[in-house]
Amino acid sequence: MREKRIGFALVGCGRISRFHVEALRSAEQEATIAAVCDIVPERARATAGMTEGARAYTDYEAMLRDGGFDCVSICTPSGLHPRHGILAAEHGFHVLTEKPAGIDVLSVDRMIETCSRLRRRLFVMLQNRLNPTVLLMRQALEDGRFGRLFMGQANVFWTRPQAYYDEAPWRGTLEMDGGAFMNQACHYVDLMQWMMGDPEQVTAITGTLGRNIEAEDTGSAVIRFRSGAIGSINVTMLVHPANLEGSFTLMGETGTARLGGVALNTIADWKFDRELPSDMPAASAGYAPPTVYGHGHAGFYRQVIAGLRGGDCTIPDGLEGRRSVRLILAIYESARTGMTVRL
Ligand SMILES: NC(=O)c1ccc[n+]([C@@H]2O[C@H](COP(=O)([O-])OP(=O)(O)OC[C@H]3O[C@@H](n4cnc5c(N)ncnc54)[C@H](O)[C@@H]3O)[C@@H](O)[C@H]2O)c1
Repeated sequence: MREKRIGFALVGCGRISRFHVEALRSAEQEATIAAVCDIVPERARATAGMTEGARAYTDYEAMLRDGGFDCVSICTPSGLHPRHGILAAEHGFHVLTEKPAGIDVLSVDRMIETCSRLRRRLFVMLQNRLNPTVLLMRQALEDGRFGRLFMGQANVFWTRPQAYYDEAPWRGTLEMDGGAFMNQACHYVDLMQWMMGDPEQVTAITGTLGRNIEAEDTGSAVIRFRSGAIGSINVTMLVHPANLEGSFTLMGETGTARLGGVALNTIADWKFDRELPSDMPAASAGYAPPTVYGHGHAGFYRQVIAGLRGGDCTIPDGLEGRRSVRLILAIYESARTGMTVRL
């Protein structure tokens, strides 16, 4: 007999929500969207219209009270993720929040604590971990092919015009978004820690050089990891005229790999002392991403569904999502104070 479909509700029907709707449509044998909510009624109605008949709400708590689903997918502005996650768990639902988990550690911790106390699952959409190129790098790392790690480097050289920030009032604000590190580069900060382990100290400089926003549009951070390895992350949203690069390079004693393209979608270098037959196909594992967000939402949902059915899933939970938030906040503190921050 076919298992009951997992019901999802979606809160926040803006730009990223359609990736959730498409991902859930691609899993329609196993999942359904029962309800959607946005404070802007037309957005809620339009998103409901893309589903098999989801109910449309403008009041989040009313949607939670009515229920009829298992998990809430949170696609609201970043500063609201913990509040919306906590409310969902308190009403008895599992939580899948868009990245970042939040923009301050205290409220992320409250969300983690609430979900854990009420035995609700909490997932954080860091879908770049599922990029085929990223998975190959991670496998090579787990197989010990890099040897001792010396250095990691991430570049996020993208463009976000002023119109992007002006389109939604929360974008680029300190209260609801943060800047290029917290919003656009947060996947790259996540990958650096996933590959290199716990950071020990960070020194950073940030600037708001070309956009009329509160937070940074450009910055560089240098990180020492507990292993002794050093990482650097360079970020700007001011590239003229279009997205140029989203790359991650890992350099170790016996291997070097560089994921490149605009969003980690090519393998630009793949060199190891110990060559394997799988290295040739690996070197051509690149793909053309539809956008810099990649294809990861569908794969991520497949794992969320498996996890909610009690099966294996290796996607980031709340504690994993917290790690990049904490490092980005240390980057911000260093940039603000001009001091090196110890973690
Ligand atoms: N995983 C990724 O690669 C990725 C990519 C883009 C955006 N995001 C994340 O997704 C989130 C949303 O980004 P976006 O670009 O879609 O923003 P957006 O502004 O386009 O959409 C947010 C929506 O939330 C609605 N909203 C605000 N407050 C609400 C409330 N209290 N109740 C219900 N609805 C409310 C707004 O009306 C808006 O429609 C952000 O946290 C962002 O960081 C993730």
